[in-house]
Amino acid sequence: MKKIRIGVLVSGRGSNLQAVIDNIEQGRLSAEVAVVISDQAEAFALERARKRHIPAVHISAAGHKGKREAYDGLLIEELRKHSVDLVILAGFMRIITKVLVQAYPNRIMNIHPALLPAFPGLHVQQAAIEQGVKFSGCTVHFVDEGVDTGPIIIQAAVPVLDSDTEDTLAARILVQEHKIFSRAIQLFAEGRLAVQGRRVVVSGGRAESGDFLINP
Ligand code: GRF
Repeated sequence: MKKIRIGVLVSGRGSNLQAVIDNIEQGRLSAEVAVVISDQAEAFALERARKRHIPAVHISAAGHKGKREAYDGLLIEELRKHSVDLVILAGFMRIITKVLVQAYPNRIMNIHPALLPAFPGLHVQQAAIEQGVKFSGCTVHFVDEGVDTGPIIIQAAVPVLDSDTEDTLAARILVQEHKIFSRAIQLFAEGRLAVQGRRVVVSGGRAESGDFLINP
């Protein structure tokens, strides 16, 4: 199968990037990381890329205050230079504009540490605890012009425990993030994702099963 070329946008530690790299190396993902781009020079994610000899590029946002479209233009330039088929936002802490969304329609994926459409935005693990939900989880979705609003590809549910702190819940969710991001990318690589309005239909998706989740 043809390997798709991924461009990964990051701002921080890059554990999701690492999971993708590991899955590629272990033959579980028919993809190649073509470039990693960070808005933060010190992002550990850039280190992870360099270690694997993946092009690691810092594009500073300095001088682009209030000019988000112009910044996104620089991202597009770099992504095109590396002939990227799919863009993934793996802890990229900037809101992207329609300029980038329209350059890669239904070809940008984001990972979010909650079960969207509940808890969009930031500090969502703490919000889930305070709200008293019994499940949270993570979502991979295509990026549209809103924030955390695009069509949902895959979700993993994680129980919220009475003893949870923001950190323990985030860590439990992160384990699942590392699985479902690669799974979503693989489904894309296999050409199995079709966006129909707000829904993403997965061809050859799982059949109905008797598995349900109950907590506690
Ligand atoms: C993850 O929790 C992801 O869901 C969110 O930002 C965090 C990135 O973590 N969008 P990492 O940089 O991949 O370790």
